[in-house]
Amino acid sequence: MSVTATAGTAPAASLELKTPPRLKGGLPWIGHTVEFAKDPVGLLQRAYDECGRVAQFKLAGKNVNVFVGPEAHESLFRHPDEVLNPTEAYKMMIPVFGKGVVYDTTHERMMEQLHMLHPALRNKRMRSYTEIIAEETQLMMEDWGDEGEFEACDFFGVLTSYTSSRCFLGPEFRNEMSEEFAHLYVDLEGGIVPIAYINAYLPIPAFRKRDKARKRLGEMVSTIIARRRERGTVGEDFIQTLMESTYSDGTTLTDHEITGILIANMFAGHHTSSVTTAWSLIELLRHPEHYEKACTEVRGRFGDGEPYSFNAMRDIVQTEWAIKEALRIHPPLFMLFRTATQDCEVYGHLVKKGEWVCVSPIVAHREDAVFPDALRYDPDRYGPGREEDRRPFAYVSFGGGRHKCLGNAFALLQMKVILSAMLNRYDFELAGDEIATDFGRVVLGPKPPIRVRYRKRGA
Ligand code: HEM
Repeated sequence: MSVTATAGTAPAASLELKTPPRLKGGLPWIGHTVEFAKDPVGLLQRAYDECGRVAQFKLAGKNVNVFVGPEAHESLFRHPDEVLNPTEAYKMMIPVFGKGVVYDTTHERMMEQLHMLHPALRNKRMRSYTEIIAEETQLMMEDWGDEGEFEACDFFGVLTSYTSSRCFLGPEFRNEMSEEFAHLYVDLEGGIVPIAYINAYLPIPAFRKRDKARKRLGEMVSTIIARRRERGTVGEDFIQTLMESTYSDGTTLTDHEITGILIANMFAGHHTSSVTTAWSLIELLRHPEHYEKACTEVRGRFGDGEPYSFNAMRDIVQTEWAIKEALRIHPPLFMLFRTATQDCEVYGHLVKKGEWVCVSPIVAHREDAVFPDALRYDPDRYGPGREEDRRPFAYVSFGGGRHKCLGNAFALLQMKVILSAMLNRYDFELAGDEIATDFGRVVLGPKPPIRVRYRKRGA
């Protein structure tokens, strides 16, 4: 079969295309759905082991084509959204983010809305976020005493919800509305259930709670906006950036749009950061040699009470490599989907209109040809002379191409500050041996409980 190549900026050409090799097994129509539901990563790995860098399997009547490896990723990520559409898989988020926001608007408007946060992610702002994150981390440890135990999944979940509510929504929110916000957030998340893929507007309790929470959150954000405008206060946070933003046609954002964009970013950034911080600490504690290196680095820099400033964080490289390595081995978003809106070519293969294509960071990061001795935890692979993440489209924990994560610098900074503030104050060890991945969630993280023992340094 031949189609016109549309990838990237390459000139159109007529190509003879291969059909993606079909994975064995599966039942008529439902295909590999049962295997996927039981063990999605196992299925993806089997597809790679049996078919190689391109494989096709079937989920509930849909053909899914998985592409593995830097060149295959590049070919997929370079397609324009008009050909490989990223929004189809996220339609169920519309009631969470709100009508007319992100996935419920035109492509141009969606891109404008997402990119409005750029000023909030510049270095100038990052300086104040660094202080906020360090302060929140220290507050979380305030009642710890000299020694004890904590549950890592819960701890990092709560901590990152405080840091993001303060950096995104400002001090008013964090100080006055934190508790209510925590409940609303749970109700919003409760609306992200598999049935929402089929119909996100069914009259069921989970969706009613979701809608009530979305409405109340909108009111809370409007209160802050009104108060800031009335008093002329200016914040150093995401909400302020959106209040000052305009579309290319000169119009400003409504409170409803501001709320929706903030929620979209919180959903993109909260769990991903929380589980990655947990994995980073777990992996360090499982690898004493690297734990020692991170401690030496952090304590050498901050041991004498130097503040956790944005500039000082630039010197924290060993710990950053440890985070990157945890993120390579445990990418929380383990499948990144697009839908083909027309027949097209990806990495020399024919993808038919209506089929799904997917990049799987977790499988891609296990290729020895790209990351030598890939299953080994080795933070030094990012160090001078090796820099294994430099190869374009090899390291895809943050995705790639035009939809690459907008918050990656913020996320790395946040995780670095949290770990620095913790390692500087306490020694840690795992209190149990059982560490497993929780495959029951859309964002993969360690399976709770993860008990960690702490002891104050010098106590
Ligand atoms: C460890 C933490 C994080 C990980 C692993 C992560 C991962 C990702 C990935 C893989 C994508 C691409 C999705 C795709 O191609 O379909 C993405 C997109 C995105 N991320 Fe993150 N993310 C993290 C933190 C954050 C944070 C903190 C924010 C907000 C400050 C954020 C905001 C976004 C947004 C807005 C997009 C959509 C970009 C677009 O569609 O153009 N992320 N993220």
